[in-house]
Amino acid sequence: MEKLPMPRHIAIIMDGNGRWAKKRGLPRTAGHSAGAEAFRRTANYCRTLGVEYLTVYAFSTENWKRSEEEVSGIMKLLAKYLQEALRDMEKNHVRFRFFGDLSRLSPELRRLCLDAEARSSEYHEVQVNFCLNYGGRDEIVRGIRAYARDVQAGKADPDALTEEMFSHYLDSAGVPDPELVIRPSGELRTSNFLPWQTVYSEFVFMDVLWPDFSPADLDAAIAQYHGRNRRFGGV
Ligand code: FPP
Repeated sequence: MEKLPMPRHIAIIMDGNGRWAKKRGLPRTAGHSAGAEAFRRTANYCRTLGVEYLTVYAFSTENWKRSEEEVSGIMKLLAKYLQEALRDMEKNHVRFRFFGDLSRLSPELRRLCLDAEARSSEYHEVQVNFCLNYGGRDEIVRGIRAYARDVQAGKADPDALTEEMFSHYLDSAGVPDPELVIRPSGELRTSNFLPWQTVYSEFVFMDVLWPDFSPADLDAAIAQYHGRNRRFGGV
């Protein structure tokens, strides 16, 4: 049988950590720790499969509304993960990028993000894009501001602007659009995740909670993707 091509880029909304913890009578932060493990597992498996880009929703512009304890728990996990990643960088050869407005993060976390981005910029095995303080509409508005500044400076001509050109003003500049978006946890929404980049993506919604997400679940999502007929508006 013909081997179907792997999606080059998979994007995941890591949802259901809170419910996973609640089911076990644990604090929500325990769900996020288990979610961080699920991320590690999934990123390693993507590398094994030859997926080139993995984009994950780690913290949205709306997530600040959660309790201070939960927000600081997630931030601590991210800092810990990035410190480990910086330490293991030579071994893993993962390239890191961050999508979102990093200006609202603590100076320490922002520095870890910028360090990880700079120190991994030559790696090409797999690229992980962390969406941190990310909102899709916010990304587009920030892109429009940057574009408007270029127009003001005489560096851009509005009548010449194309979709391709505008995509370079987004956080995802240079990254191909995801072919497959996965949302575990049973919610059927896209929640401000990559609205520009996913107009032709295949969406797979799954009932598993993110901390339980396994390589077999990723296989199942890819099998659904392979079963779909992608026409991009053609016939
Ligand atoms: C959504 O579950 C998850 C988040 C808002 C945070 C995601 C963060 C992590 C997985 C941990 C940090 C990641 C790494 C890679 C170190 P939810 O809390 O909305 O779950 P619920 O809908 O069941 O309440």
